[in-house]
Amino acid sequence: MNAVAARMPKRPWHMRIVARIARNIKALFNVPSFLKNEDRRVLEQVIFPYFLDREACRDVLFVGCDWYTEGYNRWFEEKKNYWTIDADPSNGKYGAKQHIVDRLENVSRHFPAGSFDLIVCNGVFGWGLDARPDAEEAFLACYRCVREKGVLIVGWDNTAERCPFPLSDCQSLRAFQPLVFPPLGTCEYQTDTTYRHTYTFYVKTEVAGPGRARFGAPSGQRDGP
Ligand SMILES: C[S@@+](CC[C@H](N)C(=O)[O-])C[C@H]1O[C@@H](n2cnc3c(N)ncnc32)[C@H](O)[C@@H]1O
Repeated sequence: MNAVAARMPKRPWHMRIVARIARNIKALFNVPSFLKNEDRRVLEQVIFPYFLDREACRDVLFVGCDWYTEGYNRWFEEKKNYWTIDADPSNGKYGAKQHIVDRLENVSRHFPAGSFDLIVCNGVFGWGLDARPDAEEAFLACYRCVREKGVLIVGWDNTAERCPFPLSDCQSLRAFQPLVFPPLGTCEYQTDTTYRHTYTFYVKTEVAGPGRARFGAPSGQRDGP
């Protein structure tokens, strides 16, 4: 099952065809389409605006592209140095003007250490980034590529089917500190969705002691699963 089918209420086949045609017509006129789910609302209306509004957040990498993420390109490209990356070459058409075709595990081949203020890795863990060694490598590469006080956001489905292993077991993520994301008041936010889509926030603080994100947010302890 693809990501869209998993996240949308089951609709009759003719409704799905109508939706696809509508999407294609919109695409012809350069009008982006979006998914209308609670986890998207949180991502698009709570998480993105926070970072878009912060001047200190300049360099952004978004991992994994599809038709419903294409609209993000315009939002970020207007204000940020925005990059996308996807392992699947066919998804390049949804990517930003600055797009890399490669696995996140290899992101350090494309960017020097400390290149990004923000990496958003949403819907990738459990959706292609599944094997433990790959996830370890990918998040280690993220750690290298975010700068001091930069942020990594991992969006993942907290279900047996889509969570290959507990994210908290990932050693490479332990290099980060948990970040209490101010608009949500927590470092781990589970959305009200059947697939329990969860956003986990991390900040890179190499200096000992409680860290702060570049954007003024204090880091804090995990609130628990
Ligand atoms: C569910 S889709 C879309 C994810 C999108 N970021 C979102 O917000 O929903 C997952 C995407 O991640 C890509 N992907 C999976 N594993 C990857 C990896 N290790 N590195 C880069 N892209 C990967 C897939 O090709 C696919 O386009």
